[in-house]
Amino acid sequence: MGKDKLQPLRSKWYKTKMLLDNSSITTFIPDTQKFNKENLRSMISGYRMVYIKPERGTYGMGVIRAELEQQKYAYQMNEKRVTFSSFEAFYTALARLVGKRSYLIQKGIHLLKHNNRRFDIRVMVQLSPSQTWEATGVIGRLGHPKRIVTNYHNGGKPMDVHKLLESHASASRRDELIREMNELGLRIARHMKKKAPYLKQIGVDVGLDRSLKPWIIEVNVKPDPYIFNQLKDKTMYRKVIRYYRHAVKKAQ
Ligand SMILES: Nc1ncnc2c1ncn2[C@@H]1O[C@H](COP(=O)(O)OP(=O)(O)O)[C@@H](O)[C@H]1O
Ligand SMILES: [Mg+2]
Repeated sequence: MGKDKLQPLRSKWYKTKMLLDNSSITTFIPDTQKFNKENLRSMISGYRMVYIKPERGTYGMGVIRAELEQQKYAYQMNEKRVTFSSFEAFYTALARLVGKRSYLIQKGIHLLKHNNRRFDIRVMVQLSPSQTWEATGVIGRLGHPKRIVTNYHNGGKPMDVHKLLESHASASRRDELIREMNELGLRIARHMKKKAPYLKQIGVDVGLDRSLKPWIIEVNVKPDPYIFNQLKDKTMYRKVIRYYRHAVKKAQ
C-alpha cells in the first residue's frame, strides 16, 4: 500500500495544513493549533470546549476533552475527569500528560447524541478499480457512554447512519446530509491526491454539530475497511473490501 510514502500523512498537523490550502474545504475544518500554553489559554477561553490530541495518534488513544465552565477548568481522558479552579493548575496538569510529545488543540465540536452517547460519522472514499474516486461507505460510530471518543478500538459501536440520525433529521434531510458528506470526502481525496499521488483511500471522521453542519475531525489514510462488516446489510462492506483488495494487490 505504499506505506512509507504515506508516512508524512500520519501527522494530523501536516494533513490539516494540506487541507487549509483548499478554499472549498477550509470552512469544514475546526480551528487547529499546536499545544502550548498560549494557544491553550486563547482556545479554551474562546471556544469553551476543545479537544487535545497527539499529532500522530490512532484509535482515540491519548485524546483529551477539555472544558471551561463557570470559571472552572476540566479535562477528561479515558474515563477520568479532573477539575481545576485556576488556568495555571489546569495547564500544569495537561503539560505533564503531554510530556515531550507533540499534541494539537482543536476547537471542540458538540457532537450529536443518540441514547445520550456521542456519535460521529466515518466516510470512506476509495479509488475504484477504474481509478476514479468513489464514496464507497458511510457509517456511524457511537461512543462508549463514559468516554469522549467514538473510535471502534476505544469502545465505540459502529452503527447504521440513518438509525443514528433518525431523531435529528427527516429521511430526506438525512439523504441530503449523506450526499453532502460524500461530496466533501471526494473533494478531500482529490485535493490530497495532488500532493500524495500514492493515496488510494481515505476515511474521513466527520462530526455533526447541532445545526447538522459537518466538521472534519480527521482524515485517515489507512482506514479500517472491516468496520463496515459490523453492519447487518453487507452492501457497503462488499464494495469497500473489493476496492481495498484491488488497491492492495496493485501496490504489490
Ligand atoms: N474537535 C473535536 N470535537 C469533537 N470530538 C472530537 C474532536 N476531535 C476528536 N474528537 C473525538 O475523538 C475521536 C478521536 O479523535 P481523532 O482526531 O479521530 O484521532 P484518532 O486518530 O485517535 O482517531 C474522534 O473520532 C471524535 O469522537
Ligand atoms: Mg479518528
